[in-house]
Amino acid sequence: MKIVIVGKGGREHALARALSESPSRPELFACPGSEGMADVATPLTDIPDIPALVAWMRDHEIDLCVAGEEAWLALGLADACHLAGIPCFGPPKRAAQLESSKIFAKEFMTRHQVPTGGFTVVDSAEACRAAIQSYPTVLKYNGLAAGKGVAVCTDAAMAEEFIDMVFIQKQFGEDKVFVEEFLEGKEVSVICAVSDGKALYFTPARDHKRLKNNDEGPNTGGMGAVASRQLLPPETIEQIQREVIDPTLAGLVKDELHYRGFLYFGIILTEQGPKVLEFNCRFGDPEAQAVLPLIEGDFAEFLFQAAKGNIAPDLIQFHEGWSVCLVMATRDYPRASGSGDLISGLDTLQEGRVYHAGTRKRADGGFETHGGRVLAVSATGDTRESARDTAYAELAKLHFDGAQIRTDIGTLHF
Ligand code: GLY
Repeated sequence: MKIVIVGKGGREHALARALSESPSRPELFACPGSEGMADVATPLTDIPDIPALVAWMRDHEIDLCVAGEEAWLALGLADACHLAGIPCFGPPKRAAQLESSKIFAKEFMTRHQVPTGGFTVVDSAEACRAAIQSYPTVLKYNGLAAGKGVAVCTDAAMAEEFIDMVFIQKQFGEDKVFVEEFLEGKEVSVICAVSDGKALYFTPARDHKRLKNNDEGPNTGGMGAVASRQLLPPETIEQIQREVIDPTLAGLVKDELHYRGFLYFGIILTEQGPKVLEFNCRFGDPEAQAVLPLIEGDFAEFLFQAAKGNIAPDLIQFHEGWSVCLVMATRDYPRASGSGDLISGLDTLQEGRVYHAGTRKRADGGFETHGGRVLAVSATGDTRESARDTAYAELAKLHFDGAQIRTDIGTLHF
C-alpha cells in the first residue's frame, strides 16, 4: 500500500511512524514532510497545491491520502481526492468547517444538543467590549489563526490586546469573534477515527499548552501530553461517549457531512458535565505524539478501511498503560522561533521515540533547530511513573542551546 500523509510537523512524523510500524509495511510519503521524518516517509517538497498533489498521487498510484494538518482540508483536499477516486482519511471541506469556522461548529452543537459553553458573536471592537460581561472571559477568532486565535482574558487589558490584534491590526483577516463563557474544569482531548457515523476512540490524552511548569506562562502549541485510558474514570469516559460523542456522530450523519477522518474533541469536564471547547478535523498535536505510540496492530490497513467507509476495530489494539510526550522548544518560543542551533544526541535514544517538528538538516548530515517547537520525545510504560521516567531519561540525552522544556509533564497533580 502507498500512502501520502499531508503535513510536516511532529504530529505527521508520529502518524508516519505509526503507519510504518504496520505489519502491512506501507510505502510512505509526506507532503511536504520534512528531512526529520524522512526516516519513515519520503518528503514531497515541490508540490505547491491540492491539484498538483492529486495529480502526483494519481501518477504514482497512491492508495490512501491521510490528512495530518487542517489547512488543505479547509481548501478541499478530501473533495479533490474523492473526485480523483483516491481514498482520503480527512473530511470534505463542508465538514472541515467544524474546525475552520467556529460559528459553524457552535451552530452544529446547538442543533444537535452537544453540550458547549454559552457565546455571543461580535464583528467590531465596540461590540466585543460591550459583550464582555465579566472576567475571566474567552475570546475566539472565528476562522483559522495558526493556533493564536483564542485568548483566555482575566482582565480588560488582556481583552484589549486581543481586540487590537483582531479588529485593529486584523492579523488573521476580517472574520468575527466569539465572546464565550469561561468554563472551569480539567481538560481532556478525545480523538476518534470517524467514518460514516461510526467511530473508534483513541486513548484519551491531556495536552499541556502553557509554557511553564504548573500550567503557568503563555499559551503554546503544546509543551507535552499524557495519554492513558486510566486518565479518566470509566464512568467519565462513558458519559463523554453518551453526552458528547454519540450526538456528534448522529449530527454528522443527519447533516449529511460525509465525515471520514480524525475528529478531535477538546473537552472540559465541568461540574455540570463534559462540554466541548472545540472540534478539530485532524489529530491533536502533541496528543498524536503521545497517543499513537500506544497503538498496536495494522494502523495503515485500519485507516485505509476507514477512508472507504468501514471502521474495523479489530485491526488495531491499544496498550493499556501510559504514554508521556515531552516537547523541546527554542529559547524565545512562543514569542519567536529560532534556528541554527546544533541538536546532539538524536542517535542515542533507546527506549523512547523522537519526533521532529522544527528541525533542518545540516550539510554534515546532523540536524539543527528550525522553528519554535523543535522535537518531541515520547515513551510508554505500564505505569504513569515508568512512562514519565523513561521519557525524561531519553530527553536528557538530547541537547541544543537554549532548549526550553517543562519538567512536570506526567506528574500526579494533573
Ligand atoms: N493540542 C491541541 C490541538 O492540536 O489543537
